Amino acid sequence: MSQTPGTMKTVSLGDVRLAVEDRGSSRSGQPVLLLVHGFPLDHTMWQSQIDYFGSHGRVIAPDLRGFGGSSNAAPPEGSSHCAIEMCTYADDLAALLDRLEITRPIVFCGLSMGGYIAWQFCAKYPERVAALVVCDTRSFADTPQAVAGRFALGARVLAEGIEPVAAAMLPKFFGPDTVAKQLPCIADTVAAMHRASPAGVAAALGAMARRPDMAASLAEIHVPTLVVVGEHDAISPVEEMRGIAERVPGAEFVVIPGAGHMSPLEDPATFNAALDHFLRERAGWS
Ligand code: MLT
Repeated sequence: MSQTPGTMKTVSLGDVRLAVEDRGSSRSGQPVLLLVHGFPLDHTMWQSQIDYFGSHGRVIAPDLRGFGGSSNAAPPEGSSHCAIEMCTYADDLAALLDRLEITRPIVFCGLSMGGYIAWQFCAKYPERVAALVVCDTRSFADTPQAVAGRFALGARVLAEGIEPVAAAMLPKFFGPDTVAKQLPCIADTVAAMHRASPAGVAAALGAMARRPDMAASLAEIHVPTLVVVGEHDAISPVEEMRGIAERVPGAEFVVIPGAGHMSPLEDPATFNAALDHFLRERAGWS
């Protein structure tokens, strides 16, 4: 992945240090675009969006705690200490914005686990959100079977390292065209997974397993919202994403043809065109 030197920062937030890409500058008061990655990746999954939107405005793309270049301050999963929750990541992001002195409402864009965090951020910090973009995500809680699977996988990751989670996730991430063409985003995704810490991955699995069902709260979101999904997303299918768009008042819904769960990486041109249109029409970008 390409990286422009000099735009990565490390921001200390008390018990945790977050690595963050801070690219571009806000023009005429347009809101900052905050890009929140999925599990078990890091900010580099947004490289095409950072490059594109960072030349039109300010883009912040952090590594969540335990992922990429960020430290992991989570207690070991299963310990008697209070575990981290989806809300912990949302609190980290609010503290990060404070440290970066971003006080105006932002555009929150999250993919999958980044979307689970978006629901918590919108519920806890509604005054900080100017617009919302949720990609390839879910609003429902896990089934009991999925919860058991997450905890079993977390235990294996703590014992064996990242490999079991890569083996479990990769077959579900990409659409058939991406796999047939062996697009470089597949190798980039594998590399990002291997930058995550096993303890951070296990903590995130626990946090996802415990996450609350947010379907009923979607009606309480009153900011311009864009819902994006890859046509072949096997984790958050098109019809489920359409249901999210129907529950959020006034939300727009876009399907990225041919893409799977990783739509911003698989077809960045189509994804960026959809996001660009939304930012200009609904979120004050010029
Ligand atoms: C993600 O992409 O963040 C994960 O697929 C989320 C999940 O496992 O539920």
